[in-house]
Amino acid sequence: MTPATRQSSALRHLIAQQIQASLPPRITFAEYMELALYQPEWGYYASQDPALGPAGDFVTSPHLGHDFGELIAVQLAEFWHCLDRPKPFSLVEMGAGQGLVAADVLSALQQNYSDCFAAVEYMIVEKSAALIQEQQQRLQPWQNQVTLQWRSLPEIPPNSITGCFFSNELVDAFPVHRVVLTETGLQEIYVGLADSPSLSEPTFQDVQGPLSTPKLSGYFDLVGVAIQPPRYPIGYQSEINLAALDWIETVARKLQRGYLLTIDYGYPASRYYGPSRSQGTLQGYYRHAHHNDPYAHIGHQDLTAHVDFTGLERWGQQCGLEKLEATQQALFLMALGLGDRLSALAETPEIDRPTVQTVLRRRDLLHRLIDPMGLGNFGVLLQAKGLSADERGRSLKGFTVPPLL
Ligand SMILES: C[S@@+](CC[C@H](N)C(=O)[O-])C[C@H]1O[C@@H](n2cnc3c(N)ncnc32)[C@H](O)[C@@H]1O
Repeated sequence: MTPATRQSSALRHLIAQQIQASLPPRITFAEYMELALYQPEWGYYASQDPALGPAGDFVTSPHLGHDFGELIAVQLAEFWHCLDRPKPFSLVEMGAGQGLVAADVLSALQQNYSDCFAAVEYMIVEKSAALIQEQQQRLQPWQNQVTLQWRSLPEIPPNSITGCFFSNELVDAFPVHRVVLTETGLQEIYVGLADSPSLSEPTFQDVQGPLSTPKLSGYFDLVGVAIQPPRYPIGYQSEINLAALDWIETVARKLQRGYLLTIDYGYPASRYYGPSRSQGTLQGYYRHAHHNDPYAHIGHQDLTAHVDFTGLERWGQQCGLEKLEATQQALFLMALGLGDRLSALAETPEIDRPTVQTVLRRRDLLHRLIDPMGLGNFGVLLQAKGLSADERGRSLKGFTVPPLL
């Protein structure tokens, strides 16, 4: 047995034990996903293997160069001005992965916005101990130049943050519940034990049952969707991210004055829960390929579901976070200066073949950040709390109409 198979086997047995200890013998999909991704010893994000990045299972925007973090820094520096240059100016990055965005943001602020940099207190909220280690190594050069802290969300005191909470591809990584429309109404899809061909290796399967919590049907009331026949076919499945609601509620409590900036893939509820999306958005990522078997490669594949931005907006509103803006990543990055970077590349004098190759590669990476079929189509949601009417009304660079190339 390889160490990887041993890890997966240990995780399978742990999940099986939790199922057997439950009455009836099943756990919610959210409980399963929590274990598969975040169980501290064997979960996907606990592993020391490079899960993120070109050598792992998927790449995110910061893997395509420093531009993504540097352009976000432009927006963060503007937030600092809009908030009247507070000190400390707290930047709380949640789900910071390998620390790439943090490094690029800090370096861009230090180089281009030194006044803002001098006020910054950078906090990382990260669930994976392995990734915290990697972030701490990467951010070592800033340890003595800026206040840098790792905290859990509960550790941050209420109403203590003036600044900005932000994340890239965090909310899609939260554990989700699954539901299915049946002849008798909406049911939940739980995880149960399958009849295993090998008695020693437990395997899992979907099991239907009544909703585990009224919050699931409450969610559809929140986002204004009614999943009922005849508009929706029997067998229609989807996901509900209750963890996202808890998260936004906690962030709202911690924020005294400032912003919540969320970048992720997803849709408004009307599209997310459109009748034609009958199998939901749950996906597994394993070695740059995606598929829809959540029980494959347990502990070695990422599991994600798209984000319902309407849920974030509406629950945020109820928790005191006002929606200020929403756009797409392509427009956001272009407005922040990605177009200027592309134009500058076009003006690079053609010196020799290696230079041309470098320029072409960089141009390709910049285009990938704004690809309308990929990262460019990600949603960017800006919510705020505690701003004056004047501050709320300010035009923000990332949300203006970008110049065309
Ligand atoms: C898909 S990765 C994105 C990483 C990084 N933001 C990037 O763009 O490369 C999701 C990240 O969120 C972290 N994460 C997931 N749930 C979390 C939670 N509840 N609190 C803090 N971090 C969390 C994961 O450990 C991981 O670092």
